[in-house]
Amino acid sequence: MNFQLTEEQILIQKTAREFADTELAPGVVERDDKKIWPKEGVAKMAALGFMGMMTNSKWNGEGMDTISYTIAMEEISRVEASAGVVMSVNNSLVCYLLEKFASDHIKEKYLKVLASGNQLGAFSLSEPQSGSDASNMKTTAQKKGDHYLISGIKNWVTSGINSDYVILFAVTEKGVGYKGVSCFIVEKGYTGFEMGKPENKLGIRASDTCELYFDSVKVPAENLIGKEGEGFKIALATLDGGRIGIAAQALGIAQASLNASVSYSKERIQFGKPISTHQAIQFKIADMAMEIEAARLLVWQAAWKKDQKQQYGHFSSMAKVFASEVAMRASTQCVQIHGGFGFMRESGIERLMRDAKITQIYEGTSEIQRVVIARSIIK
Ligand code: CAA
Repeated sequence: MNFQLTEEQILIQKTAREFADTELAPGVVERDDKKIWPKEGVAKMAALGFMGMMTNSKWNGEGMDTISYTIAMEEISRVEASAGVVMSVNNSLVCYLLEKFASDHIKEKYLKVLASGNQLGAFSLSEPQSGSDASNMKTTAQKKGDHYLISGIKNWVTSGINSDYVILFAVTEKGVGYKGVSCFIVEKGYTGFEMGKPENKLGIRASDTCELYFDSVKVPAENLIGKEGEGFKIALATLDGGRIGIAAQALGIAQASLNASVSYSKERIQFGKPISTHQAIQFKIADMAMEIEAARLLVWQAAWKKDQKQQYGHFSSMAKVFASEVAMRASTQCVQIHGGFGFMRESGIERLMRDAKITQIYEGTSEIQRVVIARSIIK
C-alpha cells in the first residue's frame, strides 16, 4: 500500500491549487450571488487541460489517471464548486461516456472538441417524473430511415445552457422498461431543440441548470451511442465514474470549510483570546479534519479501483455518500464557527453550506447510493 502521490499528481495538485486561488477566487461571491457563469475560468481550465483529463491524447485529452482528476476536482471545487461541476460533467459524464461507448466517427467529430475543452457537453437523463427512478423516462426517439425523431422534456440539466452538445437518453422501444432506453449525442443547433430558463438554485448558482425541450428533433442515426436499448446501462456505468467526481467536489467544499474555520478561529478574539483556543471550537475542527481525511481516502480508493479496472461502482457510491455528508457537516460547522459573520452573503462562508447540499442530491441521491452499496453487499 502506498499513500504517496506521484510527482505528476503533486504537480497537478499544485497547478490546480494555484489556478483556483489566483484565477477562480476573485469574484466568486459575486458570481454566486448574481448567477454569473464562470466563462473565463472555464476557458482557462480548458487551456490547462482540465476539461478532458482522463481522455486519451488520441482524442485530444490528457490521458491522466482518475486520481489526478479527483485531485484537480477537489482543488477547483475548494474555491468554486460551480466551476467544479462544469468540469466534472464534461470530464466524467460526457468525455468518458463517448470514449468508452461511442463510435470512432462520433469520437472524431465530438470527443476531440469536447476533451480539448474548446466546446462543452451536458448529460441529460432526468425528467420531471423520473429522477431516482431514472429508466422511467417519457422522452421518445423514433427511428425514421437515416435519422431519429426525438420528442420530450428533460430537466435539471447541468450546463444545459452553456453546452454545445448534449448526451441524451430517450426511449426507442416502449413497454420493455430500461431495455428500451437508448443514448444519443445531440447538437444544440438542431431544429426543435430549445432550452428553458436558467433555474434559480440554492447552491452552485454560478453553474447553469435548465430544462431541455425536444419537439420532433431530427437526429442522424449515426449519433446513436452504442446499440438501441443499451442506453440505461451506459448511463449507470457512466454515473459510476461521475460519482467519483462529485465526491471530489464535496471533498473540496469540506476542505474549504476546514481552511476557513482554522484561519478565522485564530483571528477571532472572544473572552480575551482567539476562539481557536476554546475547546468547543477545537473539537469542531478536529471532527472536520478527521472526517475529511476519511472521505479523501474513500475518494482516492474509488479512483484507484477504477484505474486498476476493478469493480468500483459501489466504492464510488461509498465515496460520494460519505464525502457529501462530510461536506454538509463541515460547511454547517464552518458557518457556526464564523457566527453572525458567516451568515452574511458577503462572507462567502454560507455559500459553502449551500453548495454542499447538491452533492447529496445530483448524480444519484444519498439514498440511491445506499441502494447501490447495499445491493452490492447483499447480492
Ligand atoms: N453499470 C452497468 N449496468 C448496471 C449498473 C451499472 N453501474 N447498475 C445496474 N446495471 C444494470 C443491471 O445489472 C440491470 O441489467 P440486467 O437486467 O441485465 O441485470 C440493469 O442495469 C437495470 O438495473 P436495475 O434493475 O438495478 O435498475 P433500477 O431501475 O433498479 O435502478 C438505480 C437502479 C441504482 C436506482 C438507478 O436507477 C440509479 O442510479 N438512479 C439514480 C439516477 C441518477 O443518478 N441520476 C443522476 C442524473 S445525472 C446528473 O445528476 C448529472 C448532473 O447534472 C451533475
